[in-house]
Amino acid sequence: MAKLKWGMIGGGEGSQIGPAHRLGALADGRFEFTAGALDHRADVGRDYAKRLGVATDRAYGDWQEMLAGEKNRDDRVDLVTVATPNATHFEITKSYLESGFNVLCEKPMTMTVDEGEAIVRIAKLTGKICAVNYCYSAYPMVRQARAMVRAGDLGKPRLVVTNFSHGHHGDATDADNPRVRWRYDPATAGVSGQFADCGIHALHMASFICDDNVEKLSADFASTISSRELEDDAMINFRMTGGTVGRLWTSSVAIGRQHGFDIQVFGETGGLRWASEQPNQLIYTPVGGRTQIIEKGEPGLCEDTQRLSRVAIAHPEGFPLAVANIYCDLADAIRGEMRDGLPNASDGVRSMAAVHAAVASAKEAGVWIDARPPMFR
Ligand code: NAI
Repeated sequence: MAKLKWGMIGGGEGSQIGPAHRLGALADGRFEFTAGALDHRADVGRDYAKRLGVATDRAYGDWQEMLAGEKNRDDRVDLVTVATPNATHFEITKSYLESGFNVLCEKPMTMTVDEGEAIVRIAKLTGKICAVNYCYSAYPMVRQARAMVRAGDLGKPRLVVTNFSHGHHGDATDADNPRVRWRYDPATAGVSGQFADCGIHALHMASFICDDNVEKLSADFASTISSRELEDDAMINFRMTGGTVGRLWTSSVAIGRQHGFDIQVFGETGGLRWASEQPNQLIYTPVGGRTQIIEKGEPGLCEDTQRLSRVAIAHPEGFPLAVANIYCDLADAIRGEMRDGLPNASDGVRSMAAVHAAVASAKEAGVWIDARPPMFR
């Protein structure tokens, strides 16, 4: 099968997420790296793209130049990844969708709910794919967790508890580092800091595994480093449409926690736990029974888990491979086989609605607020 052509915006040299996209997109040989506008500095971005093997005429200085250069080519890119800071996602994603490109946008998809709804509508209108990189949902054992909830192994989920808390922004003396600072500056990050940065991964995961959507929430935000305008710690209580009770803690000042992303689902007849730092194991306890460790690679796991497993039993499953699974599903979707688990623009706008509801709730002492985008009420 001919390789699909892939272009990337942002993710330049030294960026955090750029290498994960390149590893992920290229891991299976389904995409080739064809075009890029990789850096906010035109020359630096062109030079880096060329060093990564992109042809000189497709190593662009900025995303507008790339759009103009690609849109009239017969061999235009099949997919554009947007891996720039948050404030630029909407304009870039919208422009590429409107010009008929498929897009994988980094989270948070947009800065506002209106922008998010616009993206959902444009994707629908153009028939183009707009995926959002909730890559943790592509871990094989997360797919197993969802399959078990769907199969009724837990009964109805009563409670979901999730954390995404790390300590990497806990050093107040490093708060001015430009790589850290933009995440807490409303001009570049939007209305929310840590919740929109990491908390929405946890919220998406809760929806993904429970197969349900967040209906309303109550939030408590704190900026524990006083120079930060946006929150670096948040506690969110939420309720799902089907009645599941949700608790979410997200923090960037939890010194000693490395990645700290985990989720537990407690149902009527059993409980499940998955943690990103032990991604190969799913811990399952049936009511009245013994706790079991379900190991990736063992027989009897769901088809989706088997399809997305890259390494043999007992070998660790890496984070970029979860991103690779997103690209794998995108390649299938572009070729007409839409996969069930691919996070899309609806997931993106649901997150934005939750972020805006959380900001409003936190300002009103935790008052309960409808967390659904108007289009999904
Ligand atoms: P970063 O600050 O490390 O790197 C940003 C890169 O984008 C730099 O190379 C910069 O030169 C480039 N850039 C900035 N503006 C640009 C423009 N207008 N055109 C082209 N390039 C531009 O940021 P990081 O951490 O890589 O985050 C980027 C995005 O990825 C953010 O939206 C972030 O929320 C998201 N992210 C997602 C993760 C996930 O797990 N899905 C993990 C980490 C980040």
